[in-house]
Formats: sequence, C-alpha cells, structure tokens
Amino acid sequence: MNPSDLKSHLELCRRLGIRYISTGGASVRETEASSTPETFLDEKPLSPAPPFISSGADGDVPPWLTVSAETEEAKRLTAFDREICGCQKCPLGKTRTKFVFGSGNPRARVMFVGEAPGADEDAQGLPFVGRAGQLLTKIIESTQAFKRQDVFICNVLKCRPPGNRTPQPEEVEQCRPYLEEQIRVVKPWLIMALGASAAQALLRTQAAVGKLRNQWHDLGGIPLRVTYHPAALLRFEGYKKDVWADMKELTAKFQEISQNQK
Ligand code: URA
Repeated sequence: MNPSDLKSHLELCRRLGIRYISTGGASVRETEASSTPETFLDEKPLSPAPPFISSGADGDVPPWLTVSAETEEAKRLTAFDREICGCQKCPLGKTRTKFVFGSGNPRARVMFVGEAPGADEDAQGLPFVGRAGQLLTKIIESTQAFKRQDVFICNVLKCRPPGNRTPQPEEVEQCRPYLEEQIRVVKPWLIMALGASAAQALLRTQAAVGKLRNQWHDLGGIPLRVTYHPAALLRFEGYKKDVWADMKELTAKFQEISQNQK
C-alpha cells in the first residue's frame, strides 16, 4: 500500500474506533479514536470501511482478532472459526461470498449480537463493517466505557441471506450452535441483542423489540439487554433516544459488575 493510501486507511480506522492494527508481527499502531456521548447520528455517514490489514505472514492470526492471539479464548475461537468456516449446513453456504465468524476481543466483557451479514460484511468476511456497522461503532463508543475492539461482535447467522432477507427459522437453528459456542468461549458479562432477529433467536421468543426492551433478560446466567438494530436507527432517527437509554443501562450494569469484582 502506498503511503497516502495507508494514511487514509489509518484515518478511516481511527474514525471507526479501530485503534490497533495487526501488522503481521508484534508491532501495532495506535490510531487514537475519540467520540462523545449522543453524537452517533449527528455526523455525516462515513465512507465504506476498507478491508482490514490482517493476518500475520504465516496466516495464523485471523483478521477479526483485535487483541492478542495468545490467550486461551483467542486460540479456542480461532480454532472454532477454522472448523466451521466452510459450513454447508444450510443453502446460505452456497450463496455467501465469505463466512462471517465475528470480530473483536475473545475475552470481551460485552458481546453485541446482530442478525446476519449484509453485502459489505459478505464481501469482507467481517461483521458490521457497512453503514450500520459504522453507526454501531459510534453507539458502542458513545458510552465512553467501551471501544469497538474491546467488545465481541457477531451475528446469529454467519452467512448473508440473499438480498438481506430476514433469516429463516431453519437457518437460525442450523447456525445457533455456532453462536452458543462463541458465547461459551467468550463468557461475556453482558450481551446486547441488536434488533428483532437477534433478540428473538437468543431469547427463543416471537415478541417484538418494543416489548423486549427496558428489562434485563437472563441468558443462562448472562444478563441480556435488547435494543434496536443500527440499520433501523439509520431508517428512523426517532429510535436514537431509546438506543441511547439502552446503552446507558448496559454501561451502568457493566460498572456495577466491575465494582462487584473488586
Ligand atoms: N447487520 C447485521 O445484523 N449484521 C452485520 O454484520 C451487518 C449488518
């Protein structure tokens, strides 16, 4: 990559909140992200995310990993990704471009779960890298408590449904064990379900987001909160205050658990 491309790539990473980029070895570059509360819809949409600078020369480090590959959890998730990335359990295996495992910190305290990869995610093999993903980064970082690279982000479905249609129940059932294993390995303190598909799949309910918000759910001992999907927020700005309220609840719970750990 020439120096000016590299500079604009690093600038975009900084705006996306990606502070550390694997360069294939031990060295990393800090890109210094910042954001303020409640600003996540006030800025102009960002241009599409570029591909990550990824993978060590030996290809051992997956592009979705934002922290050290040396932890037990990182090793387990990396091995699991390798095991399932060729999945053909449902017809989406034939139509996808890339399998989208998830991204972030395998030891994250907070996990965000979306619906399924869209066109940008399918092309890049990474979750939430399109417009909704850029908004998700702002939402996460607007709390000032979390950085995108510190949390773990994944979807109920690991492959894009053609035309971004809603996942079908059989697809959710085929993919469910993958999400369950990710939750078992990461063992997050908290889960945020983004939108109806994620909330309904995780909580095994048909209820609407409006009914599931504003309360803590228990997912096998993990407190789970439901909020609107960032794509819904892009279509209807009126959800902004609700999403902000949900993120404040998440942050408060996170701080409460942190205090109790001391
Ligand atoms: N929407 C999702 O639910 N997941 C993605 O990864 C991108 C858009």
